[in-house]
Amino acid sequence: MKNYTKIKDIPNLSETIKDAILLKMNPFEFQNLGQHKTLVMLFFNSSLRTRLSTEKAAKNLGMEVTILNVNDAWNLEFEDGTIMNMDKSEHVKDAAQVISQYADIIAVRAFPSLTDKAKDESEFILNSFKKYATVPIVNMESATAHPLQALADAITLTELTEKAKPKVVLSWAPHPKALPQAVANSFVEMMQDLEVDLTITHPEGYELSEAITKDTPINHNQEEALKDADFVYVKNWSSYKDYGQNLNQDNNWMMTQEKLGKAKFMHCLPVRRNVVVEDAVLDSDQSVVIKQANNRTYAAQVVLKQILEDL
Ligand code: CP
Repeated sequence: MKNYTKIKDIPNLSETIKDAILLKMNPFEFQNLGQHKTLVMLFFNSSLRTRLSTEKAAKNLGMEVTILNVNDAWNLEFEDGTIMNMDKSEHVKDAAQVISQYADIIAVRAFPSLTDKAKDESEFILNSFKKYATVPIVNMESATAHPLQALADAITLTELTEKAKPKVVLSWAPHPKALPQAVANSFVEMMQDLEVDLTITHPEGYELSEAITKDTPINHNQEEALKDADFVYVKNWSSYKDYGQNLNQDNNWMMTQEKLGKAKFMHCLPVRRNVVVEDAVLDSDQSVVIKQANNRTYAAQVVLKQILEDL
């Protein structure tokens, strides 16, 4: 693998999921692969799971890890040809080349503005690093995608499914803040590549990009969509059409034990209890959110392993 900025960068998804499950059983099997290699992780935004699981994954492979909270460094300019006489002290063109001398792999977390759709969709932060860095780039959640989370979700589903083709429902949930579409986008794309029967449910106005949903069924009736589900993935996202707007906080969309039925409950975390999902669900045996978070390590580890093997 040359980079992991999107799900389609995985050369063979089913083999990669199998390899991740094997790494989970024997995490130190490749502990010399990353010897004398460094992962530099750049955070433009907060993180708990991504930061800790990716660091753990790299260390399981014998890598050194350096973490930079970008807000502690010089303010970066991303536009070309700018006269930099305002608040930006360093151009990404220079920063990315410099960091590449300290890193064998660079991982980037950079959320969208949720105000400038075209700029967010251009993935200008992630793609600037991809353009100017001279080492592979890993996406730790960008403006439109969270492929490491989606790979962890695919591993979790593969481990837990008892059916050849389980019914999976992605259900929107209310949230007090406007959140990105990245997790939902990558989850949908990942499920489209697996043997699952996927349905999306959300209030009107919350349609994800058609470039993502393609022909996946969308049902605005949550109760109907959830019928006979094996896995229910709950996530809030802001409107894509009315870009970045929080149009609806109807708590009738919160996931409850009654609505969940016998399905397993999935969420990427962090989650607001009793807003997105009630305590009774999260604290039940049907919740697999802690397993998903554990699988973030093996998703990152299999990706780093495949990149290291191609260096
Ligand atoms: N799910 C996830 O990416 O968690 P963090 O934002 O804590 O990294």
